[in-house]
Amino acid sequence: METLITGGAGFIGRWVVQKLLSKNERVVVIDNLSNGSRENLAEFRNNPNLIEFIVDDICNDKILNYLFKKYTFSKCIHLAAQINVQESIDNPHKAFENNVIGTYKLLEKVRKSGTKLILVGTCLVYDLATSNSAISEEHKTNPMSPYAASKLATEELALSYYNCYKTPIVILRPFNTYGPFQKTNSEGGVISIFLTRKLNNQNLMIFGDGTQTRDLMYIEDCVDFIIEASEKKEAIGEIINAGTGKDIAIKDLARLIIQDENKIVYQKHHHPQSEIMKLRCDPSKAKKLLNWEPKFTLEEGIAKFERWLKSYNRI
Ligand SMILES: NC(=O)c1ccc[n+]([C@@H]2O[C@H](COP(=O)([O-])OP(=O)(O)OC[C@H]3O[C@@H](n4cnc5c(N)ncnc54)[C@H](O)[C@@H]3O)[C@@H](O)[C@H]2O)c1
Repeated sequence: METLITGGAGFIGRWVVQKLLSKNERVVVIDNLSNGSRENLAEFRNNPNLIEFIVDDICNDKILNYLFKKYTFSKCIHLAAQINVQESIDNPHKAFENNVIGTYKLLEKVRKSGTKLILVGTCLVYDLATSNSAISEEHKTNPMSPYAASKLATEELALSYYNCYKTPIVILRPFNTYGPFQKTNSEGGVISIFLTRKLNNQNLMIFGDGTQTRDLMYIEDCVDFIIEASEKKEAIGEIINAGTGKDIAIKDLARLIIQDENKIVYQKHHHPQSEIMKLRCDPSKAKKLLNWEPKFTLEEGIAKFERWLKSYNRI
């Protein structure tokens, strides 16, 4: 049986495809290439287990009908989403349409076919952390942007399918993820932007005073988490966080990357109301339920990513 990967030509999707192919699993990808690329999957072009790569939209009923008629998917790893926070603030409709309606259409298909859906959500659904404690799955949710709201809505919708129809659903909330194949423009994450600017001999720009913190997870750890959660039956019906359990202030991250205070520039925040000041994951549920733990330190992950950026001449 095949696994359907939505958003499989994007950053995390590309790594999920690679991991499943390395396990000799059969994979079907759908991606509308709004933020992904054919090049991300080019190295797998001749792999017979990449059964089909469809460039289309998950909101397109015709293509979903075609896919679910042709294949009996054992699972669907759902990554397709409009991920840009600023874009969602400028155009909430797009985030809603893409993320909520797209997920609803997919849910209808997995409900009817009995396919397990692994919904990749986000840590941005959480309310501001008021203390130094890490964010567990029990932490209150309170979306600060239409992006976060749309992702939370997809979770709620998926949970209703689990409760109401017993559709096997797994909800994952990875914290900020970085690594090779991530976009290096504003659609990328903070590490990919900082590394690119450093390698281009540009200053690192920080929005606000740089005291906001992030729990940054290397892509291979994130993908191991997604795969473990997709395989273990204990994960069904659960919401599970993944992160390193350690956070770093953005100004300290900039210092770690560039080691030159003069190249760090602070600028006015463009959406302070949607900034989450402290993001540190409590990954203990993932450890307990999936026996998953991150393997890469921040320093190791950054070094790997920087080597990749240089060697592939991506800058
Ligand atoms: N990168 C992170 O730090 C991070 C952290 C937590 C959660 N996530 C979640 O993981 C998922 C993947 O994120 P990513 O960083 O790889 O982003 P990405 O933009 O690189 O990947 C998303 C992919 O989905 C595709 N897509 C978007 N809308 C689509 C649609 N309607 N139909 C078909 N394809 C569509 C895009 O073209 C893109 O290739 C997202 O759901 C995101 O919310 C990401």
